[in-house]
Amino acid sequence: MSSIISLKHVLLYLTSFILWTTCTIPGYIKVCHRDDPKLVTCINDSITILKPYLKKGIPELDVPPLEPLLLDAVDLKSGNGATRVEATISNLKIWGPTSFVIQELKPNLNKNIFKFKVLLPELNVVGQYKADARVLFFNLKGEGPAYINITDYRFECKLKGNKIMKEGEEFLEFEKMKLKIEVGTSNIRLENLFNGDPVLGKATSDVVNENSNLFISEILPNLQQALSEKFTNIANKITLRFTYKELFP
Ligand SMILES: *[C@@H]1O[C@H](CO)[C@@H](O)[C@H](O)[C@H]1NC(C)=O
Ligand SMILES: *[C@@H]1O[C@H](CO)[C@@H](O)[C@H](O)[C@H]1NC(C)=O
Repeated sequence: MSSIISLKHVLLYLTSFILWTTCTIPGYIKVCHRDDPKLVTCINDSITILKPYLKKGIPELDVPPLEPLLLDAVDLKSGNGATRVEATISNLKIWGPTSFVIQELKPNLNKNIFKFKVLLPELNVVGQYKADARVLFFNLKGEGPAYINITDYRFECKLKGNKIMKEGEEFLEFEKMKLKIEVGTSNIRLENLFNGDPVLGKATSDVVNENSNLFISEILPNLQQALSEKFTNIANKITLRFTYKELFP
């Protein structure tokens, strides 16, 4: 019995060893030839094919699921007198980042620089808020779930890669992506405002929504940071697994 188990282990070990060392490009990675006259289309297709895999994660490349994207808690504390804000949004989870559409792409394979203009059609954010604030003419107090929808956000980003040598082979490694988000429209729903008081809650909720971009601008730096970190990480997980020649023959 035990010899059967150990034989199975040896076979498993051998199989993974063979898979690891040959490292052939998996089917979901579409390779683009560097002199392809339709290089932009090819790279765009290649990323489009990858999107559902990025959403769920690619365990064999050690790429974690991109959705939901988790954000660090955001603390807002400011003011005195007429304006006073103390608020926290924590446990932020974001769905939708993999539904991005690449609207413009400028690859420069000689310099290994890729410039993208990307549309995020919709992001759905869920978090926990806790707020006690007086801003100009309204009070905001409560604690509970926060739902935020962000529609038609655009971002521009630049990925710069450097060729590095590993065990005699050339690999492409990206520097941290530069990413700048342009604000689109957003909707915010804060539940349990004023302990669920329907009148105060509704009025405040309307004010929050009318000023939603002010609130969003507070979480924007964290969102930018998280997106550029994740996208750079994923790009490197893929490019550092395969040689430059394999990826851009
Ligand atoms: C990339 O592909 C998407 C989906 O097919 C398309 O909507 C978009 O216009 C393409 N972008 C470029 C730069 O070709
Ligand atoms: C966000 O969008 C979803 C559908 O996509 C909708 O069910 C939900 O009510 C929206 N939430 C807000 C805060 O607008």
